[in-house]
Amino acid sequence: MTSVRATEARAAEAPPFATGSSDSVAWQRRHLLDLDDFTVDELELVMQTADTMKEVLSREVPRVPALRGTTILTLFYENSTRTRSSFELAGKVLGADVINIAASSSSVAKGESLVDTVKTLQAVGADVIIMRHSRSGAPYLAARVVESSIINAGDGLHAHPTQALLDLHTMRASFGSVRGRKVVIVGDALHSRVARSNLWSLTALGAEVTLCAPPTLIPRGLDAGEGTLPPVHVDTDLDRAIEGADVVMALRMQLERMNGGFVPGMREYSRMYQVNASRLARAKPGALVLHPGPMNEGVEISHEVAHGLQSHVEEQVANGVAVRMAVLWLVTQHGRRRAATETE
Ligand code: CP
Repeated sequence: MTSVRATEARAAEAPPFATGSSDSVAWQRRHLLDLDDFTVDELELVMQTADTMKEVLSREVPRVPALRGTTILTLFYENSTRTRSSFELAGKVLGADVINIAASSSSVAKGESLVDTVKTLQAVGADVIIMRHSRSGAPYLAARVVESSIINAGDGLHAHPTQALLDLHTMRASFGSVRGRKVVIVGDALHSRVARSNLWSLTALGAEVTLCAPPTLIPRGLDAGEGTLPPVHVDTDLDRAIEGADVVMALRMQLERMNGGFVPGMREYSRMYQVNASRLARAKPGALVLHPGPMNEGVEISHEVAHGLQSHVEEQVANGVAVRMAVLWLVTQHGRRRAATETE
């Protein structure tokens, strides 16, 4: 659990970066589970804090002691390259102790329940638990049973909030604001937690979002009134949907979840839905190409587009570090304010 001594010590120190933006909007969240209830002010605060963190990362020695004394555990029940490594680096840049736990090599493999596992990590001293799980809702369960901050690093088909935040940050780096920008999200939206979280943040900030997929890969709940996802344009024809797009976000074809006969075959899918050079030519000149990764090159995106001039895929990954630093800083400020209140 958050060591109150460490929290008080941090409260007594000025953070080693500008935090004016954090002062103007109170951050009230101990956990980051999804973006579905985020206000515009909260999204703006994360973006501004990430800008601050980018300044830290640009220093000759990109290390600050802002989270010294804080213990962060990553608990991944599913594989990850980008999310886990960028959270680990984000914590280390901020001076926290970061411990990585792979469920496959933990007592989970002996049958330990999720609740017992997170309670154990809390007892070990975790201030923050960053969690990826194949079951939608698993981080919500964890957040109910521990005092540690829970950050959702991807739960089942449901949400991947820090990916959507880094996607937003990448778009804003090019456009300033996403308001009125046409963002086409194309691919296996049915299985995509990345798409779902992006729908919330992008629509909250006024982007014109089109979701493009075969009918079998469109998630339910996009109709106005159904309420499980924000209403967006839906189009099954990529050649039409991509016209005039400012951003084209290709989603990974989740081959491991493709045993339901969702598409006739990968060749047919690629013919209809691959983001390739001829289709990209229909978007606005210089439109951004994004992909959350890992990419199936030759399936949802062609090799030349994935690595072409319009690809911002590597920038997305780099922005992930700054955005995750921002998230770690903000969720730990919740504990910091609470400890300060308790000692008054
Ligand atoms: N985008 C994403 O979540 O990538 P990883 O699975 O590599 O973390």
